[in-house]
Amino acid sequence: MKKPFPLAKVYTLLEPGAVAMVTTALKDRANIMTMSWHTMIDFDPPLAGLVIGDQSQTFQTLKRTGECVINIPETGLLKKAVACGNVSGRTVNKFKAFGLTPVKASKVKAPLVKECPVNLECKVVHRTLANRYNFFILKIVKAWADPNKKDLRTFRHLGKGVFLAGGKKIKTSSRMK
Ligand SMILES: Cc1cc2nc3c(=O)[nH]c(=O)nc-3n(C[C@H](O)[C@H](O)[C@H](O)COP(=O)(O)O)c2cc1C
Repeated sequence: MKKPFPLAKVYTLLEPGAVAMVTTALKDRANIMTMSWHTMIDFDPPLAGLVIGDQSQTFQTLKRTGECVINIPETGLLKKAVACGNVSGRTVNKFKAFGLTPVKASKVKAPLVKECPVNLECKVVHRTLANRYNFFILKIVKAWADPNKKDLRTFRHLGKGVFLAGGKKIKTSSRMK
């Protein structure tokens, strides 16, 4: 028998795909934020949409520069991904603090995260919805994938710091709802 489900928790049922780490750069300062509210929008050229909270440094930088990289981590980076989601780049240099390596991208100023097997260089193509819904529409202008990784061991966020990785639940210290 199904029961009514609290509307405020619906996001835990509809959490989309793999947790991503989005990098941006403002002048020389590169930043990383962890995010999971993303979606594909079109095939070719590939368009994606990201929901990025307006309190974050990433929101401000993305609005200003119109460029970012979507990096997809595997489960070995889960702790570092949570760490990047628990603090703001306003106060912490996350690349240094969490031992991640920035690599120059080819088409955008934001760096790739070397430790992630997939890196998608993106340019914002529509930002009107960012003002109202924190929603950015991006065109992926260059994509990188490690050819040795056929089956990526990505992970999904189920809410409140619980992740699904390889069919198993993992509880972390994430401060996310
Ligand atoms: C697993 C996980 C998923 C997250 N998903 C999102 C998201 O989809 N959108 C968002 O705005 N913040 C999300 N966050 C929170 C941001 O990562 C967090 O606010 C971060 O501190 C922002 O960093 P910044 O100020 O350096 O940009 C998520 C955090 C975690 C740990």
